[in-house]
Amino acid sequence: MYHTGASVDPLWSIIVTDAGLTVSQFPFQAFGLGALFILFLMAATSHDFWLANLTAPVWKSLHMAVYPAYLFLIIHVVFGILQSETSPFLAVSAGVGFIVVVGSHLYAGYRQAGMDRESSSASSLDGMVEACRVDEIPEDGAKGVIIAGERVAIVKYEGKISALSGVCQHQNGPLAEGKFVHGCLTCPWHGYQYKCEDGTSPEPFKEKIPTFSVKVSDGVVYVDPNPHPAGTAVEPALIT
Ligand code: FES
Repeated sequence: MYHTGASVDPLWSIIVTDAGLTVSQFPFQAFGLGALFILFLMAATSHDFWLANLTAPVWKSLHMAVYPAYLFLIIHVVFGILQSETSPFLAVSAGVGFIVVVGSHLYAGYRQAGMDRESSSASSLDGMVEACRVDEIPEDGAKGVIIAGERVAIVKYEGKISALSGVCQHQNGPLAEGKFVHGCLTCPWHGYQYKCEDGTSPEPFKEKIPTFSVKVSDGVVYVDPNPHPAGTAVEPALIT
């Protein structure tokens, strides 16, 4: 409404002239435009075509821009609509939303950092390092451990134990939080699957992840810290 009557292009006007139009004299609309631009880029590339062509690291970095976008939106709302709002409802909603989003992310980051700091114990067997106890792994599920700095998912299924990379090929999802479904470890994020024996996805999918040699002795799982190339078949350890 303001900018269609401006002496310059309305889009350009949003960026250069809105400071004088707000109670706070703050250019809140430029932040809204910035957030819109980031969210548009993310929406336009939210397809496996772009994931494959941009490569996972670039695609993931692009989509991490959701954090600056959220910050821009908060600034846009706080210095924009909240300046003229008389009811506290919107301010309280924005504040509670901000606390929940930031708090849950900090908590998740704290938990992950704790897992990453956990190192395997000094105990070893035939060059393999102790990863965890068998009874720590949920049945038809997995436990995440860090072996030589790598995230590894130790899977327990059908009386056997396998060790696979803990990082999903799709968007680096946490495979150790996945479940054993139809013979495969299934990523909790979007359902990509990997066969426990060789780390390959079932046909017709082509993804594959590294596998690790594994042994079980006295109820303890030992893992070779050197991963096999992605898609290498490895004999599971039997739970005796
Ligand atoms: S991250 Fe998408 S399926 Fe694993």
